Amino acid sequence: MPTTIPIIPMRQKSIQKQPLDTQTLRKLVDFECGSIDRRLYWDDEIYGLELERIFARTWLFVAHDSQVANYGDFLTTFMGEDGVIVTRAQDGKVNVFLNSCTHRGNKICLAEAGNKRRFTCNYHGWTFDSAGSLVGLPQEEVYKNTCKDFDKTQLGIRRARVESYKGLVFATFNEEAESLEQFLGDYRWYLDVLLDNDVGGTEFLPGNIKSRMQCNWKYPAENFAGDSYHAAWTHNSGAVALFGQGVAKSDQTKAYQANMNGHSWQFGLDMIGNAMVLGEQDILDYLKENEAKVALRLGKLRSRMIGSISSANLFPHTSFLPGQNTFRTWHPKGPSQIELHTWVLVNKSAPDALKNMYMKGVMRSFSPSGVLEMDDGDNWENATSTNQGVVTRRQKLHYGLGMDSRIEHGELKGNVHLRKYNDSNQLAFYRKWLELMCDERVGAS
Ligand code: FES
Ligand SMILES: [Fe+2]
Repeated sequence: MPTTIPIIPMRQKSIQKQPLDTQTLRKLVDFECGSIDRRLYWDDEIYGLELERIFARTWLFVAHDSQVANYGDFLTTFMGEDGVIVTRAQDGKVNVFLNSCTHRGNKICLAEAGNKRRFTCNYHGWTFDSAGSLVGLPQEEVYKNTCKDFDKTQLGIRRARVESYKGLVFATFNEEAESLEQFLGDYRWYLDVLLDNDVGGTEFLPGNIKSRMQCNWKYPAENFAGDSYHAAWTHNSGAVALFGQGVAKSDQTKAYQANMNGHSWQFGLDMIGNAMVLGEQDILDYLKENEAKVALRLGKLRSRMIGSISSANLFPHTSFLPGQNTFRTWHPKGPSQIELHTWVLVNKSAPDALKNMYMKGVMRSFSPSGVLEMDDGDNWENATSTNQGVVTRRQKLHYGLGMDSRIEHGELKGNVHLRKYNDSNQLAFYRKWLELMCDERVGAS
């Protein structure tokens, strides 16, 4: 939740810092000792490099299929700081292209979502179809008669590569990027807990909350990746206010962190933990009743993960709480600001009354006025603003919890660590971050 206290503006020019070469970057994260340099959270130069080497290079979640179910359905969102339009074309394919006119750069779609088959720019009236191709312009003969080699087909909008996994649509502007299948890898095994626990798959409920927080985008991403440790402290008073009792300490001998390729999931096998947050007995009953059916579909172990106290981050900036069902992206807006987009993800087959309960429960807990989001937001904003202090920024941050907790597990995929009170997933997030930041090859063009 944005605070009312103004954030101190950064004065980047007055800050002395090492030039940002690969050697300097590598020193920012110490995986042996478990420590991180605070420069990651305030530096404009690092932020600029993140836009180039992470957001313009990896696959990014842009929409759920259900948001663009029919021909002409569209929404506008961001890939890094690039505005994009996501829309369903007549051939059924989802296209993603820059929300910027090829004439003078004006934003061509001002709406957040809707249905239209053409996008006409407000400035001079150039019109683009649902593939981003230029299909019309006022007084076209002027161009034909006086503009040498005028060719409409060369003036379409830059399109991204698009692939999807079980309802989640991803895009990248990087032609050299691996396939989405490779990018997700074994994370798909975990994603199925969320996306494939019932016949018919999932949908986003209508509506999308957008809010701003004055924090670096990595704080919420790493929090959802694996910061189980904060919950019993940060959210204790919130839990008392909501349910009349504090957050229960979880059994760490049956709790895990798993990560692969920067994607993370931390969970217990205690079923019904996250769903408790919704404060709806009917949802708890629904999950309990379904557990046996899910076990047949995904196996017993994954059937226990659906409503457990857990959180997950799909690298780099998409997070969710399985069972609680908030689903969100942390769009970067500078080193110390994000735009948070929040949806509610449900099984399509769930009864309408239950879907409504999910919606209300998410609003009560994880929305701008949600009790638990306010708890988190204050922490992330204060951590971001303090890191830039001239002495403060020279002090390292501690990420050393659970360094010896790696285990082999017969069933769980990826790098598995015992105990959720653990920094392993967060370090794995930064391992992927560093790998991409040090890769000097050009990503998107
Ligand atoms: S800027 Fe879009 S038509 Fe001119
Ligand atoms: Fe939290």
